Amino acid sequence: MLFIKNLNSGYEELHVLKDVNLEFKNSEFISVVGPNGSGKTTILKSIFNIAKVYQGSKITFFGKELVELKVHELILQGIAYVPQGRINFSDLNIEQNLLLGNYHIKDKKTIQENLQTVYDFFPELHKFRHKLAFALSGGQQQMLAIGRALMLQPKLLLLDEPSLGLSPKLTQELFAKIKEISRKGTLVLMVEQQAKKAMEYTDKTVVMESGQVRLFGKSKDLLKDKRLGKVFLGGK
Ligand SMILES: Nc1ncnc2c1ncn2[C@@H]1O[C@H](COP(=O)(O)OP(=O)(O)OP(=O)(O)O)[C@@H](O)[C@H]1O
Ligand SMILES: [Mg+2]
Repeated sequence: MLFIKNLNSGYEELHVLKDVNLEFKNSEFISVVGPNGSGKTTILKSIFNIAKVYQGSKITFFGKELVELKVHELILQGIAYVPQGRINFSDLNIEQNLLLGNYHIKDKKTIQENLQTVYDFFPELHKFRHKLAFALSGGQQQMLAIGRALMLQPKLLLLDEPSLGLSPKLTQELFAKIKEISRKGTLVLMVEQQAKKAMEYTDKTVVMESGQVRLFGKSKDLLKDKRLGKVFLGGK
């Protein structure tokens, strides 16, 4: 349902992604791993149209061409992006932050239903719903950032390094939660530094190197693949 064909993209003069071809299905949980600067974040930014996507690249989601779409149009297509660094509105409380995720929806009943869905999924967000975002722990902030994306009931969720700064235990809990999101019918692309840990939870993994896809396959197979370590050590 998400097809990426001959994707070439970058920033102004810098050509980062080179002929990336990928194909994902509904409900899959995908990890995107690779060394620093290999182009992981740029894949997410290309899908969300905040990197410069060059002519000839094709990204289609449920048959719809995404490359020309603006961010608000992508959101209407069911695509949500959680950038690196748990960006929340620090002077607003949890509930106000979550409601911002539905700024484009008028129907109050739908908004309440979405809020309830997020609270059912992350009970801690409900418990602390009146707490200001700046006063939350790292894990709670990450839940909030993901919760705001879930307010959109996304069909495609793009996550950039959700485990950043979290303890090993919280990281595992978060990966398990994200897997649950995918099982409910959302395709999740998760960029992660903690490659092996992420791969224990994901169905498939994209291994990036120098702007190209080096390996793509089932996570459990790639975990045993000797080439995985070589990519991270910079060898060929
Ligand atoms: N906004 C930008 N403007 C110019 N160059 C950029 C920009 N963002 C990233 N780059 C460059 O693009 C290349 C790929 O960056 P990208 O952020 O996709 O890497 P990454 O794999 O996500 O790395 P990391 O693991 O460090 O997050 C790098 O050389 C980086 O310096
Ligand atoms: Mg990155």
